[in-house]
Amino acid sequence: MAESITITDNRTGDSIEVPIINGGVDATEWRKLLPNVWFYDPGFMTTAVCSSAITELDGENGILRYRGYPIEQLAEHSTYLEVAYLLIHGDLPTTEQYEQWRHDVTFHTFIHENMRKRFMEGFHYDAHPMGMLVSAVAAMSTFYPEAKQISDADVRHAQIVRLIAKMPTIAACAHRFFVGMPFVYPDNSLSFEANFLRMMFDPLETIPWRDPVLAKALDLLFILHADHEQNCSTTAMRVVGSSHADPYTACAAACAALYGPRHGGANEQVVRMLTEIGSIDNVDAFVRSVKEGTGGRLQGFGHRVYKNYDPRATIIKKTADEVFAVTGKNPLLDIALKLEEVALKDEYFTSRKLYPNVDFYSGLIYQAMSFPIDMFPVLFAIPRTTGWLAHWEELLEQDSRIARPRQLYIGTNARDYIPIDQR
Ligand code: ACO
Repeated sequence: MAESITITDNRTGDSIEVPIINGGVDATEWRKLLPNVWFYDPGFMTTAVCSSAITELDGENGILRYRGYPIEQLAEHSTYLEVAYLLIHGDLPTTEQYEQWRHDVTFHTFIHENMRKRFMEGFHYDAHPMGMLVSAVAAMSTFYPEAKQISDADVRHAQIVRLIAKMPTIAACAHRFFVGMPFVYPDNSLSFEANFLRMMFDPLETIPWRDPVLAKALDLLFILHADHEQNCSTTAMRVVGSSHADPYTACAAACAALYGPRHGGANEQVVRMLTEIGSIDNVDAFVRSVKEGTGGRLQGFGHRVYKNYDPRATIIKKTADEVFAVTGKNPLLDIALKLEEVALKDEYFTSRKLYPNVDFYSGLIYQAMSFPIDMFPVLFAIPRTTGWLAHWEELLEQDSRIARPRQLYIGTNARDYIPIDQR
């Protein structure tokens, strides 16, 4: 075999030649020789858990493609709804297909009145909108019990449309409740993003939510966040989906994974970090504290896969200027630029291949657009729902086995129970 490895079990002297395909080895082959020997791989650092035709990511070279299309081309020419179609269906739509898709997503934006009145309004007055979103997405499965029929392609498609369409409505509903403003019903005559901005901010006069520049910027941010192959939340979606749970429940698990500061919460942490730094004069001292291990991590820097500049960060930087032209510059931008400049010249960051990721700038744009920090992970969840659902469909079509990793037991050996009065 041209590319292979030979493994020898020194206990028995048996050998097996395992082909290296696409840079990896198939565990099924490996298991033939070593059926009870497992890999210890916390965090899945060297484990491919599935094969997927959705997103291609080459972290060494800073490449990101959805269904083969470079993210730079999609960001320049496409729209979020078209990208959503592409991710779900595998190809770009014809005009007719796109019109049908846009119509379907647009006319499923309403949520059941009981969802809003009885469920969403039952939360504590200052409930975090992401906590509300996680719960609301799970609760939706009780409104659409047919969603359990996951082997019916038409039923699956109906839930996909519903989830993509209703996420902005639930997100805006959570926000309005959080800030004590009345719910705004969807306006289906508007675009996906303009409708969302209206549901968020109408009738506030101080926010330029009607400006098409903001809707356009949001559309671009949604394209960039729509999928990112096997990240933490998509893995959660696939793991829960592999048990054949309905898509709402699986999606709620994905939202929960996205809530954490190491994943969807990162742009919130970036804004908090920049606010804490407070002035460009404090940047050097802050970077020193990161390197000494006393200042925490440089939020928005580093990525498990990208060992180069995150291509999404490059695209976002351009959009920031367009948004700031309408909203006024985010005062934290100068600190961010200085921080990036200092870090990219510093051996600590360059030797570890730590570059700005998508979240380094997205938070600044969202903040300039008047989204409260607590909404940042919610804004991430809206477009990522598309990616999660594309992976969910793919996993069902592949008839994947239930996810069930091995563990290395490190607890005590067997011991006998001692009654409580004798301990
Ligand atoms: N600031 C300072 N040092 C860092 C950073 C950072 N942001 N990220 C990694 N490092 C250092 C680690 O301390 C470690 O150093 P060491 O080898 O001396 O111990 C080395 O770089 C490797 O770091 P790991 O934690 O092993 O890298 P991992 O791939 O597990 O983590 C992660 C990736 C979680 C993104 C990490 O870089 C991080 O915490 N970044 C900040 C949070 C962030 O921006 N998250 C958003 C990710 S993008 C997204 O989810 C959309």
